[in-house]
Order: sequence, then C-alpha cells, then structure tokens
Amino acid sequence: MKRLQYLLITSFLITLFSCTENKKSEPHTDTMVTDYKEQYRPQFHFTPKGNWMNDPNGLVYNNGQWHMFYQHNPWGNKWGHMSWGHAVTRDLVHWGEMPIALYEEANATDADSTMIFSGSAIVDKGNKSKICPDGTGDCMIAFYTSHVHNKGEGIVQHQSLAYSADKGQTWAKYTKNPIIDLKEKDFRDPKVFWHQPSQEWKMAVVLPKKYKVLFYGSKDLVNWTKLSEWGGVGDISKIWECPDLFELKVANEVGVTKWVLVISGGHESKSTFGMQYFIGQFDGNKFTLDAEETGQHYLDYGRDFYAAVTWNNDPYKRRLMIGWMNNWDYANEVPTTPWKSAQSIVRQLVMYKVGEAYKLYQAPLREIESLRGTYGGYSDLELPCDPNLFSNIRFTSGEIQAIFTPAEEVGVEEFGLKVFQSKDASGKVVEETVIGYDPNRKEVFLDRSRSGRLDFSEKFSSRDVAPANLQEGKINLHVFIDESTIEVFVNHGEVVLSSQVFPKMNQGGIELYNKGDGRTVANTYNAWSYNSTWDALK
Ligand code: FRU
Repeated sequence: MKRLQYLLITSFLITLFSCTENKKSEPHTDTMVTDYKEQYRPQFHFTPKGNWMNDPNGLVYNNGQWHMFYQHNPWGNKWGHMSWGHAVTRDLVHWGEMPIALYEEANATDADSTMIFSGSAIVDKGNKSKICPDGTGDCMIAFYTSHVHNKGEGIVQHQSLAYSADKGQTWAKYTKNPIIDLKEKDFRDPKVFWHQPSQEWKMAVVLPKKYKVLFYGSKDLVNWTKLSEWGGVGDISKIWECPDLFELKVANEVGVTKWVLVISGGHESKSTFGMQYFIGQFDGNKFTLDAEETGQHYLDYGRDFYAAVTWNNDPYKRRLMIGWMNNWDYANEVPTTPWKSAQSIVRQLVMYKVGEAYKLYQAPLREIESLRGTYGGYSDLELPCDPNLFSNIRFTSGEIQAIFTPAEEVGVEEFGLKVFQSKDASGKVVEETVIGYDPNRKEVFLDRSRSGRLDFSEKFSSRDVAPANLQEGKINLHVFIDESTIEVFVNHGEVVLSSQVFPKMNQGGIELYNKGDGRTVANTYNAWSYNSTWDALK
C-alpha cells in the first residue's frame, strides 16, 4: 500500500514538475488582448487575460488595494516557466491585471532555470528590515520558493524573498537569496505573518512528501530560526502543500480563539486533490491539535478548490480566503483558451462552536451582491412544479439562494437544483449539472457526470458528496455559477462544494426538482443573473 502511494505521489510530481515543454515562442501574457467573452470565460471570477494560472500567492492588503499574485506561465497555456502574475482589487469583486511581478530566472539554458513557486507577502511598515534598499517608506516583501531544476529534473527547493518599494508596482529579487536552504528537493510554499504576542514574524512552510509543516521565527525577515515541526496526522493520501496558519475568534463564544492550520493535498474521496484543516493552538513556537480534535476536517468537497490561502492585513480584520478552481488531475487539459484556470470568489472564514465541536464556516463575501442584475424568484413552491415557471430565469453567470423542506418523512429520495441545463429540439434535456440533497444519506451532492464536455480527461466526470444535516427541517443552498465554475455554500457555509463544468450548449436553464413519492417544498427560491466584472474595465 505504502509503495503504491509512493508511486502515485512520485508520478504526480514528475508530471507536475517536468511538463516544461511549452516554448517561450508562445504569446507572452502582456501582449495578449481579450474581450473576456470567450466560451467558458468566467465573468466574475478572476482569470488572467491569457495563459496558465495556478495557486494564488502573496495575498496582502496595502494602501487601499488587496493584492493577489498567482502562479503563472507568461509564455504558455500549460504549467511551466512558473512566475508570479499579479492582480489587484479595491472591492474584492473587480480585479485589474498588473504586469508580471516576478519572472522565472533563466540559468544557463531555458530548460535549466529557477522557477518562482508559491508563497506569501507582508508589509514591513517603515522598512524596519532595511530590505528595501532606499528610504524608510513601507516595504512590501514577498516570500516564495525557488524551484531549481535542470530539464525538468528538480534539484532543490529553497525559500527566497523579493521586495517592492513602490507599493507593489514593481519587484526586485533579494540579492542574498536563498534565506532558508535545507538542501531538500521538496521544501516549499512559505506563509509568513506577524505574530503580535511574541513580536516576531513567523513562517509556516512544508516538506510535502514527509507530511510536515515547519515553523520558523524571525525578527528581521532575513534570518530565520526553526521553532518546531508538526505533521504526520490527518490526510496523507497525497502530498502536503501550501500551508496557512491563522487565529480566529470563535464567533459565538466570547473570549475564545482557535488557530487553524490549512494544508492542500488530500481530498475526502482520497482519489483526488483537495484541502484539509486542523483546529488547535499556536503558542508562537509550536502548533498543538486541540484535545478533542482527532484529525483533519475538509475545507471543500468539490473537485476544484485547491492551494487556497488567506490575506494578510485585511483592514477590517476579516480572514479572507481565495483558492485555485482547478485540480492537478486534469488542470492542464481543461478546454479553455487562451487562459487556464480561475480563482474562486473571495470567502470569509468564521469559526463557530456547534454543540461541543468547533467548525470553520465559509461565507461568500457580501460585496459580491453588488453584481446582482435581473432577478427572478418564488416562495413556497410545491415540487415537482411546472418547469415553465423557470423559463424566464435563466443565466450562465449568477447567484441562486434556495431553501428546501422535505415535507414527508419517507418517500423523498432527493431534491435540489439543476443548472447549466440545455435541451435539444424535442425538449429533451441533454446536459445539466445537479446540485441536490439526499435526506436519507444526509448528503449534499454535486453531480457533473452529464455537465457537458468530459472527454478531455478520464478523471473529470464526478459526483461528489458532502455531509449535511437538515436545520430545523430545511436545507439551504447558496450557489454561484459562472460560465464554467460552480460554488455551493450549504447551510450558511457549513460545507462547500466547488467544481468546474464545461457545458457544450449554452441555454443556461435552471430548474428545481424532486425525486421519489414524498413531497418537497422550496420555501425560497431567489435567483439573480450577474453583471460582468470585466465591463468595468472598459
Ligand atoms: C500547489 C503547487 C505548490 C507549488 C506550485 C507550483 O498547487 O504544487 O506546492 O509551489 O504549485 O506551481
């Protein structure tokens, strides 16, 4: 079993870190233009105007702007030449793409380079570290992994930094890099944050194949001391990447705070990639799992939410997260061009005590409601209802809030929503994605097995499930769809499912349904098509 796991992980890493075949002759992102109207182009999720994107990096607020950097290939629409792309927003809804911030460093040849892997960013107020060579203004500092390789063969990964003295417009690499080097082939994704009680900067960084998070401390951002390591528990079905560590107040328990350690790697279904989190305490030196916690929780039960991390310095002290809406199982193959991958909508994380347990809730940020366009809605609909009721509420980019009550104890098999639905000339449904609830299994599911294009990867077709109980007899589904993305927040963000779909037809049909002999009532159905965020750029 261990051997099989090893083989799977090794083959994943070889595929990931050796597909550098795309040539620099492909169009460079900065020269590309788009009207953001291509098939599958999300209208309110960030996508680069062209070329490949994966993890969000360097999330930090500074001077009126939330920055997001991201893993980007400036020369191609597949993974390779990893550099940091850059986007900014003033409202967490509309994004503006900036010039590429940090480029891959070519060494002797193109094939033998140092790529700029994932990491984080902070603001050094008054340039106390003196890393920005001139001035005493604020110095923005990015921490990233230098991935040194030769013809795709990884040699070493170590931690490096870059700085910006002009509020993030332009970046320079620190000449004394690397700042931490363990001579490890897999050692990456530094997350740096300020820890007030110990008056020190902390870093969480992973040894992916050893399932370990290493914690470091520093006063000057250059010299780092190892504090402790933690790991080997939770989901070790894949690898451990992109750690994040932060403190959250428990929203319904005065004076109690918890520390949350987030890791990308394993998925609930074990066969694919996903994210897990742990709840405990961090004393400035080490992370300890709470006594009542037995292991990991999963952050998202869909297939396309990975490498998510949170912002440093949110001015309203919220814990805001964004994640890559793709999956290493098929990310390079998804049928979008000239770009690949979207980032999720921004989610606010809130910790609640539920019974005796603590739980992380994810709520879509309210700011997104500013995009609401045409509205359609009903209340107290008995299901099944006349499908024609929905013929005037159709869209491929928008928001749906639906609350359902299974009105009988027996006989209700499942119910929910069908989105991205298209019919042929005879009125027969030929494609749709189903977001439903099975009250017998107490599961929400997202079924994309008839969602449209599935041909580009054997691993794409899926029906994913998440545990969810009725609350006062009801299930609450809050759904965002956007041309090729779906995010489902269940029961106010208690569980979330995020997945991509690639419909071949584009009728944007939406329907409520139920299955079985029992009655179901849709207490509330509110739907809004969304205005495109790209229109604001024109
Ligand atoms: C996660 C990841 C990171 C790495 C980056 C490379 O998706 O594998 O661990 O830094 O992508 O692009």
